[in-house]
Amino acid sequence: MSEVKLEDIVSLCKRRGFVFQASEIYGGLAGFWDYGPLGVEIINKIKATWWSAMVTESDNIFGVDGAIIQNPKLWEASGHVAGFTDPLVDCKNCGARHRADHLAGTDSTNLEELTELLKDKACPTCGKKTLTEPRTYNMMMKTWVGPIEDDSTVAYLRPETAGSIFTNYENVRETMRAKLPFGIAQIGKAFRNEISARDFIFRVRELEQMEMQYFINPKDSEKVYEDWRAFAWTFLVDRLGISEKNLQWHEHAENERAHYAAAAHDIYFNFPFGSKELWGTHNRTDFDLTSHSKASKKELSYFEESTKERFTPYVIESSVGVGRMFLAVLADAYFEEEKDGEKRIVLKLSSELAPYRFAVSPLLKNKPELAEKAREVYAACKKKYGNVMWDDNGNIGKRYRRQDEIGTPKCVVIDFQTLEDNTVTVRDRDTTEQVRVSIDDLISK
Ligand code: GAP
Repeated sequence: MSEVKLEDIVSLCKRRGFVFQASEIYGGLAGFWDYGPLGVEIINKIKATWWSAMVTESDNIFGVDGAIIQNPKLWEASGHVAGFTDPLVDCKNCGARHRADHLAGTDSTNLEELTELLKDKACPTCGKKTLTEPRTYNMMMKTWVGPIEDDSTVAYLRPETAGSIFTNYENVRETMRAKLPFGIAQIGKAFRNEISARDFIFRVRELEQMEMQYFINPKDSEKVYEDWRAFAWTFLVDRLGISEKNLQWHEHAENERAHYAAAAHDIYFNFPFGSKELWGTHNRTDFDLTSHSKASKKELSYFEESTKERFTPYVIESSVGVGRMFLAVLADAYFEEEKDGEKRIVLKLSSELAPYRFAVSPLLKNKPELAEKAREVYAACKKKYGNVMWDDNGNIGKRYRRQDEIGTPKCVVIDFQTLEDNTVTVRDRDTTEQVRVSIDDLISK
């Protein structure tokens, strides 16, 4: 378990404009969150880093951006209408609803096992032993398409982005003249009517996923599965700078796996509320293309010229939630430290993920000559680096504290010496050490 407390992260997120409750002025809505000015910067950088590693740097992975609402037949064929369920218990006394597996403290979703485990359990809300037997509950969110609201117009908000990747498999293969193995990647919103949305942005009802489905010859599945597991780990450590000591592998037992998966390994992260799923790698076999081919009556098999074989490709899937990744990045970077007898909160984000690379300030606000020079330096840094913040609020100590909390790696301060020799003070966030650097060096690096 991480030593960071969730309430400290929630409070930092609100105080510094990372994450707000959705429709907060109306009391919020459980499971929905808005990213604020600094949160959206980090979210965009996480997505850009993933997209670059997955699509831009690859020769055979192509991006798509599918619609959130698709023909509902897609979700019948994928098994979600029948099988995208969680076990639920109701309390007959107070009406509270709980995830049966969470209440039983197990990963199993088997109803018989859960009935046994929960038979003497009391409702955590009212304390009475009045829970119903567990039953399954479908998590897909429904809407209606067009002006008539009846069974014939029901549609679903996608529960995973993967759906439109499978339905576009043939379109992408043909238009990109792709040969196996190749992948299709997508970043987008998905919706799940979770029984209990909880742990801040960890389990939400509107989420964003980054998914990649890799289409392969079935004979290669074991090797490719291992490659994509390694990709996920390396990405978290090397590209996002997450500390390996906060990561663990978790292999899904058979009763834990999604209805489509033959094998599944999650990377767990030490969140403040325990070690929990961050990123899944799944072997979906030929489940999806076979199901969609049967239901749509469209041929989705593949002809391998070199061996003259025809087969339905297997899919190895790499799937991670953007919000969960953001929370892991924040929890990993959050430190409370004593520096020179003072307590400080510091987000040790990598300079690639920090909302701002530099903050530029005049040492004293009320000295026009310093402010003027500082504005000049700020403009030059902004031109060169883009994500640079102007900060002249409060005294310099307060500015450092604020920039530490939002993870700005360097604070550039313009003082009287700057006016003489064109050098500035650059203060390092992590060591708090200060060095003098010439403005030319600062903007020509
Ligand atoms: N296409 C496969 C799939 O959707 P999943 O394990 O259900 O698999 C993949 O979800 C990832 O999406 C998870 O590892 C997690 O990062 C994220 N995720 C799933 N449900 C979530 C929720 N309710 N809130 C936030 N993130 C969620």
